[in-house]
Amino acid sequence: MALVTSKEMFAKALNSDYAVGAFNVNNMEIIQGIVEAAQQENAPLILQVSAGARKYAKPAYLTKLVEAAIIDTGVDICLHLDHGEDFDICKKCVDDGFTSVMIDGSKHPFEENIKMTKEVVEYAHAHGVVVEAELGKLAGIEDAVNVAARDATFTVPEEAAEFVAKTGVDSLAVAIGTSHGAYKFKGEPKLDFERLKAIHALIPETPLVLHGASTVLPEFVAKCNEYGGDIPGAQGVPEEMIREAAKHGVCKVNIDTDLRLAMTAEVRKYLAEHPADFDPRKYLGPAREAIRDMVAHKIKNVLGASNKR
Ligand code: G3H
Ligand code: 13P
Ligand code: ZN
Repeated sequence: MALVTSKEMFAKALNSDYAVGAFNVNNMEIIQGIVEAAQQENAPLILQVSAGARKYAKPAYLTKLVEAAIIDTGVDICLHLDHGEDFDICKKCVDDGFTSVMIDGSKHPFEENIKMTKEVVEYAHAHGVVVEAELGKLAGIEDAVNVAARDATFTVPEEAAEFVAKTGVDSLAVAIGTSHGAYKFKGEPKLDFERLKAIHALIPETPLVLHGASTVLPEFVAKCNEYGGDIPGAQGVPEEMIREAAKHGVCKVNIDTDLRLAMTAEVRKYLAEHPADFDPRKYLGPAREAIRDMVAHKIKNVLGASNKR
């Protein structure tokens, strides 16, 4: 049992029909809920930490909590930096013991993105750490209705091939119509699967990553709203689309919003039903269980990653 890179996880997932879940973590209850689910399902696991999470929890706490989860459960975990914006934060995470980092140069021009990614790849690889990069901009399909607009935002397959060849990056996040948060689609959910297939055909050995992949599970949105929340019109990526993406090179599926919704729904419900309680364990306990059950469901029924460890 150890902190591991995603290399072996992706090698196994690449030419299969399942994907590895990458879950964002910010505190102890979130980590415990996710890791318990992975243990229960005997699934490979990536825990990822954003710059915001590092700032909120302080870096040492998250690293130590993940190490504690490994000791407690015996589950191997890949500890990944999510959306690193520059070399500096990637280097800090490599130096802190992360086994994987993302350098997100997607907002920069193509050549600049290549340059930034190459620099991180050089440093990370020299320290046994793997690197994810991103090409294209995450935006809902309603922001890119015509072909020209899509080419301006979504990942261009030929560019993806050139990018991977020039940077030596280990995995690539692609833009095919998903977006972060709880409001992904205004109308019918739609992803550009033809584009995904074209990218996978050009770089079949490169594990692809799907950001913005939460389903925004209606039961949690409804529960939030029932107990005082105000989250109207939230919509995510349907579960069958995630399953489909896993068949075409997507090896890593990023989930944060669904964790936030599961946790908030349970906390809201508990506090609304027990207004006299003020022991945080009373409401964080059920929240942790809700996360565990939701992650187990995803691993088993959506990602198809049960028993793939
Ligand atoms: O991609 C974004 C993740 O959901 C992390 O969000 O930057 O608010 O921690 P955050
Ligand atoms: P969601 O907002 O869909 O959960 O996406 C999370 C993500 O992509 C983290 O990098
Ligand atoms: Zn993301």
